[in-house]
Amino acid sequence: MRDVAVISTGITKFGELWDTPLRDLFAEATLACIKDAGIEKKQIQSAYIGCMTSGLFVGQEHLASILCDYAGLNPIAATRVESACASGGAAFRAAYLEVASGASDFVLAGGVEKMNDGADATYCLATAADQEYEVYHGVTFPGLYAMIAHAHMHKYGTTPEQMAAVAVKNHKNGAKNPHGQFPMEITVETVLKAVRVAEPLGLFDCSPVTDGAAVALLCPVEVAKELGKPIVKIIGSGHATDCIALHDRADLAAIPVVGKAARRAYDQAGVGPKDIDFCEVHDCFTIAEILCTEELGFFERGHGGPAVADGRTALDGEKPINTSGGLKSKGHPVGATGIAQIHELYAQLSGNAGPRQLKSPRLGMAQNMGGSGGSSTVHILEVVS
Ligand code: COA
Repeated sequence: MRDVAVISTGITKFGELWDTPLRDLFAEATLACIKDAGIEKKQIQSAYIGCMTSGLFVGQEHLASILCDYAGLNPIAATRVESACASGGAAFRAAYLEVASGASDFVLAGGVEKMNDGADATYCLATAADQEYEVYHGVTFPGLYAMIAHAHMHKYGTTPEQMAAVAVKNHKNGAKNPHGQFPMEITVETVLKAVRVAEPLGLFDCSPVTDGAAVALLCPVEVAKELGKPIVKIIGSGHATDCIALHDRADLAAIPVVGKAARRAYDQAGVGPKDIDFCEVHDCFTIAEILCTEELGFFERGHGGPAVADGRTALDGEKPINTSGGLKSKGHPVGATGIAQIHELYAQLSGNAGPRQLKSPRLGMAQNMGGSGGSSTVHILEVVS
């Protein structure tokens, strides 16, 4: 396998983008990415595009062809990749493997979702849960994560204040991110007093419904060196699947698919949780960030809540989590999220993260998750120049 680098990324504004069609979102992020890379469009050989459910959200399938057409990329090989909210991470892994295999030199990994075009977002998202055993009985994602939260509170003593601390931290980071949907700071009191969505989760424990796109360009490290770009190498790529329905899991207070994907990425990279300087974590709900930081090995089980409340995952903490503002503040256009996480890693590792820049990070991690833990990808990136 060849060493592979990310050499540029592009991202749109995240939010309710009523005036921007799906195809324009993808084209905007793609053209920004290609411009930043300083290569010609015709050098790109293929694209993998993460999208959860454009058919339900905007009625458009056959997505890779129409998106590449509008971005001026046809006739490249292009494939849409779907793994619910982990679609972006899965697309990134597919692009990585194609370059690593030697089949192609320049491959795009993209992600896009337009969730605010009038479709019932809760219904569309719930298609990623188990229809017969969960959705038919009335439960959707806020309810599923509420059950996980109750289990974690019962087993480890995690509190609503600790979950609120996740939202407060991520909004504080997100206030420094010009691409984010909700770039305002909030307080613990705001989170605790907000309208309830599914007890114990309120409005500010939930990621929002978002339109947006993000794109990354990958090529062999040797080729990247010739381009004179900051080289951010992919040193670990892990992917795992699990049962979708919560009742099939041995422990409701865990999301084991994350730990399994992480172990594969750590093993490939030859590093462990202590080596990771910062991580973009899939905080679709505040409780998810707490569980994921435990599954990734940053904190022992039951210690994820106290860690965030004590500031250990803040921008200036020992293990900064979601420097971008995470899904909570930046927004969660489901198919685009995994690539938006890579965008943040690339920005931080190449020293271009502006007011949220960390001091000389070397290793960054991105953890993207499908549904309530039916799939997850984990990528570890290292800056080498
Ligand atoms: N955080 C903060 N504010 C939010 C928000 C969020 N997640 N979602 C909406 N808002 C704000 C809106 O800006 C709006 O503010 P305004 O009245 O000042 O304009 C207000 O709350 C109501 O917005 P609306 O769009 O009507 O909210 P809603 O009730 O339709 O949806 C949720 C709120 C939380 C139910 C929705 O965002 C949701 O379903 N989130 C979870 C998404 C999800 O499941 N993703 C997949 C994860 S696996």
